[in-house]
Amino acid sequence: MSQLLARKTVAELTAETGEVTGLKRALGKWHLTALGVGAIIGAGIFASTGTAIAGEAGVRPGAGPAIVLSFVLTAITCGFAALCYAEFAAMVPISGSAYTYAYSSLGELVAWIIGWDLIIEYAVGNIAVAISWAGYFRELVGHFGINIPAWMSTDIRTATQAAAAVAGGATDARSIELAGALTAAPQVLGIPLVFNIPAVLIVAAITVLLVYGIRESAVSNSIMVVIKVAILMFFIAVGTVFLRPEHFTAHGGFAPNGFAGIKAAAAIIFFSYIGFDAVSTAAEEAKDPGRDMPFGIIMSLVICTVLFILAAVTMTGMTDWRQLGTAEPMLTALNLASGNPTLLTVSRIIVALGAVVAMTTVLLVFQLGQPRIFFSMARDGLLPPWAAKVHPRFRTPHVTTIITGIFVAVFAAFANIDEVVNLTNIGTLFAFVLVSVGILILRVKEPGRERPFRTPFSPWVPLLAIGSCVFLMVQLPTVTWIRFIVWLAIGLVLYFAYGFRHSRLRKATVGRLDG
Ligand code: ALA
Repeated sequence: MSQLLARKTVAELTAETGEVTGLKRALGKWHLTALGVGAIIGAGIFASTGTAIAGEAGVRPGAGPAIVLSFVLTAITCGFAALCYAEFAAMVPISGSAYTYAYSSLGELVAWIIGWDLIIEYAVGNIAVAISWAGYFRELVGHFGINIPAWMSTDIRTATQAAAAVAGGATDARSIELAGALTAAPQVLGIPLVFNIPAVLIVAAITVLLVYGIRESAVSNSIMVVIKVAILMFFIAVGTVFLRPEHFTAHGGFAPNGFAGIKAAAAIIFFSYIGFDAVSTAAEEAKDPGRDMPFGIIMSLVICTVLFILAAVTMTGMTDWRQLGTAEPMLTALNLASGNPTLLTVSRIIVALGAVVAMTTVLLVFQLGQPRIFFSMARDGLLPPWAAKVHPRFRTPHVTTIITGIFVAVFAAFANIDEVVNLTNIGTLFAFVLVSVGILILRVKEPGRERPFRTPFSPWVPLLAIGSCVFLMVQLPTVTWIRFIVWLAIGLVLYFAYGFRHSRLRKATVGRLDG
């Protein structure tokens, strides 16, 4: 038991980084903020908001115009967690994020669990983003006369659901097209080969970019972040022109399903906020982590919260909220709004382009973060040594970057986005809970440690972070809980089969005892 709970002191952690062929320290505080914004604004606001607003018949109620309250609720939850992440990121400025923090506060077993759990946030989250990226990309190139057939840009489950909807009487063009994928696709042993090629290609491209180097990636990320913030502001500005305040109350009231709708939506749009914590995975590449990490984490969350709230108000002010339950709610809002048709069409193209750019940066940041977590785990001996290899010329963790790329690409080809979003949310909320618990424990175990940034009002803020994250987790479906528990169980088996025996910390401890 004491071995499972073995902790690394913060001093040990900090000393260790010096041993490893160092990653380049190239990122300043605005780079880090851009990294955060790059991770945050993506498939969540551009895609999941639709189903959160409109709900899903028989599954959960929609929030309606009160979606804005869901965004506030989730922002508060993330704010509590962000303050905890900021304390850790400044104190333990080491790549690996929550994994590393857990190692220093809750011990090796919990560290492993969280490292394993973070695969859900980073790699599985990226599967959802890649799928959504592909949807917008298809839409965008469609405006320019390039039509990607549905069978090579969706998954079999979505196509089967559409076929069932059509059989049940649905007549909208999108359902008919998706249903057609089943018959148009080539068959292998009688199974239609429906898969998402654009999703695979974008993941492949991002992987190549990241193997090439952090500096180049951070610069291209910053440029794309500026573009996507501008385009979100463009949507808000255009939306204001078409806004009709009566939509806020005309269709069943401002909160048509009361708090039930607001909290169900909050658990879904949590996906749109994920990413501020990803800033912390770049800690070893930050120029002045003690000062710049908290700045990057909190500033990126604040910027995105303001943009999301404005975008949500605009969307629900442009049309009847019940119509917004699509995978492209902003385009739907522009489609249904009444006003100058030329302006509406041009706006649709610009927003589709914005979504593609936005999601490219999300993919970039998460593909950047995942290998660095593997890297930290391998450095600790919990994963095999080859996972900690740094490329001699590019100085990037190329092996894990490529493995992550393959994992994300393969699942993005076949997975269904809604299921992936739910799983990502539960996994990420769980990581937030453990980080907040870690803050409380470390305040007791190492009270004298230098904390360049302190979570204010401790223990209340960490406790509120834990409570509000658990509250959102409880809103997620049972099937998501089951998948999550199965995933954690697989992780435990792997830990006892490999990490437990090879842990560097344990070997050192046992060595000291033998000596
Ligand atoms: N927050 C990120 C997104 O919405 C994960 O795409």
